Amino acid sequence: MSVYDVVVIGGGPGGYNAAIRAGQLGLKVACVEGRETLGGTCLNVGCMPSKALLHASELYESAMGSEFANLGIEVKPQLNLTQMMKQKDESVAALTKGVEFLFRKNKVDWIKGWGRLDGAGRVLVTAADGSQSELQAKDIVIATGSEPTPLPGVAIDNQRILDSTGALSLPEVPQHLVVIGAGVIGLELGSVWRRLGSQVTVVEFLDRICPGLDEETGKTLQRSLAKQGMSFKLGSKVTAAVVKDEGVELSIEPAGGGAAQLLQADYVLVAIGRRPYTQGLGLETVGIQTDKRGMLENQRHRSSAPGVWVIGDVTSGLMLAHKAEDEAIACIEQIAGKAAEVNYGVIPNVIYTRPEVACVGKTEEQLKAEGRTYKVGKFPFTANSRAKINHETEGFVKVLADEQSDEILGVHMVGPSVSEMIGEYCVAMEFAASSEDIALICHPHPTRSEALRQAAMGVEGWIMQA
Ligand code: FAD
Ligand code: NAI
Repeated sequence: MSVYDVVVIGGGPGGYNAAIRAGQLGLKVACVEGRETLGGTCLNVGCMPSKALLHASELYESAMGSEFANLGIEVKPQLNLTQMMKQKDESVAALTKGVEFLFRKNKVDWIKGWGRLDGAGRVLVTAADGSQSELQAKDIVIATGSEPTPLPGVAIDNQRILDSTGALSLPEVPQHLVVIGAGVIGLELGSVWRRLGSQVTVVEFLDRICPGLDEETGKTLQRSLAKQGMSFKLGSKVTAAVVKDEGVELSIEPAGGGAAQLLQADYVLVAIGRRPYTQGLGLETVGIQTDKRGMLENQRHRSSAPGVWVIGDVTSGLMLAHKAEDEAIACIEQIAGKAAEVNYGVIPNVIYTRPEVACVGKTEEQLKAEGRTYKVGKFPFTANSRAKINHETEGFVKVLADEQSDEILGVHMVGPSVSEMIGEYCVAMEFAASSEDIALICHPHPTRSEALRQAAMGVEGWIMQA
């Protein structure tokens, strides 16, 4: 039996950041991870491989279509899917090795195997060869993440009916990919395969894409993706899927019920959300409760059981890597006796489509529901010189500020490189800045970041609104 100050279960962005921070603070720490590699969903089968394919497929489409030719670059691109997958796998391997290096550097013991709570202060680990070991710690952090939500009637086999992991490693470009769920995964991975040549149909239960998005932002993204050739069947539900020799036959009905329609696909991606992963975790041995969705409840990262903490996708809030990371740091700092807090009001959210979407803070719909009066400043990329010269003028920056105090309450952007620009507004909001503060700050010309300032100037009424 090995005794630690802290045992972390799960080696994803929540778990590995918690373990590393504990090591940095001088705590004796172990991280239990059952996968062959560290990094969790994000590094292995989530954020990183999806962004590798988004980057490569975007360049392929630019070269393949008229975009390069219009710039005076004549090329005849040919898709080498094997190489595209290989470079993605190599980047992922380098990143997961990087976490191993950080573990060694910060004296974190990686215990390879699946962890199970075994009463207060104890974790039982089962290794791949079936051998078991026991760890003891005053504080245990659960960071076991999430898994795809299954859809009844549409069984995932990762041959023809895929989850996100399957859709990141297809051996061929589908002729017709049907995506179930117009959320982040569906739109990002749907974009990858459409750019590489697939016909893509997205079936969504609700009457809008990405339900959590600011409505105007979501509509702008949908228009743009439709223009690129993605088809949307909104207000529809898939009720059955039959795998046949030539592909998959899907039965689709209106969300509210009605006559079924058949749709043929050679591959189907099920992306209707993710759910907390707590299988075999022994929650009952310490008496931890879950909510209706199976989420582990927490009070500032403390579970209902003394000495057991919960962070990341397995607990409430957005399922995002940077949210898991922030919770990890705050949780460990509390364990180490320091004061630490996560500001859930300032967690950015990005969709890595083209154009990209980046948001932070409240949507217009949320502000209206709260009865808050607010001012809007909006600046289109058609009026931004850098975007214009680069022929990337879709989208806008929208800033929402309090009517009286002018404090920035929310920012919603669609456009080129907005993922890299949202950080400026996160900093501003953390410092409780007003839109006037941003409007008064010099931004470099010519950059897309000028649109950030122009939108803030719009709130002040300093520019002609487009
Ligand atoms: P995870 O990363 O899921 O890690 C949990 C780890 O715990 C896993 O490695 C698992 O093997 C291990 N584990 C589970 N149970 C046990 C056990 N009993 N014993 C030992 N180990 C265990 N987020 C973003 O912010 N940006 C993105 O661009 C983005 N893209 C994504 C793309 C896709 C396709 C997917 C699926 C997700 C994406 N996400 C993205 C979400 C992001 O991956 C998650 O929010 C993040 O990984 C959550 O971190 P976590 O540490 O809570 O859990
Ligand atoms: P999601 O919650 O983003 O979207 C799921 C979509 O499926 C919703 O629009 C929902 O209305 C729809 N849906 C639900 N049931 C349905 C049904 N039966 N039929 C048709 N549509 C249905 O979930 P998604 O895309 O699976 O992603 C999971 C999580 O992963 C997200 O919470 C997200 O935070 C994270 N993620 C983040 C990324 C990023 O930050 N760029 C990229 C990919 C994933």
